[in-house]
Amino acid sequence: MRALTLGLSCLLLAGVHAPSFAADAVNGETLAKRWCVGCHVVSEDQRKGTDLVPSFASVAAQPGFDEDKLATFLLEPHPKMSSMALSRIEAKNIAAYIAEQKRP
Ligand code: HEC
Repeated sequence: MRALTLGLSCLLLAGVHAPSFAADAVNGETLAKRWCVGCHVVSEDQRKGTDLVPSFASVAAQPGFDEDKLATFLLEPHPKMSSMALSRIEAKNIAAYIAEQKRP
């Protein structure tokens, strides 16, 4: 019974905190760790990477960084990247995840 109550309140919380129209940076992190980690440094705790590919932190630190533009950019495969065919929502979520790394 306790577990059930807990489960229900989790559902409620999720409903309140993650409206379906908002970008979901947590989901973006999952996607980035699945699709982008092979080439990019996607998070601070990742050590492996290459200087040839910009880390997501450095992408977010660019002066002209714009989350919406990034989401649009992600819908088109960039040159050296195999086409990943992200959905619009996935692209938005990844952009939100990258935007989070803007904070110093
Ligand atoms: C096969 C390797 C590869 C994968 C996988 C890959 N990238 Fe890239 N990415 C690159 C390379 C190489 C560059 C830099 C050269 C270029 O722009 O083509 C780059 C550039 C970028 C840039 C532009 C950085 C800038 O300076 O503006 C962004 C943003 C980016 N990638 C996001 C992503 C995201 C998000 C994913 C996962 C969904 C991803 N990449 C997966 C290789 C990859």
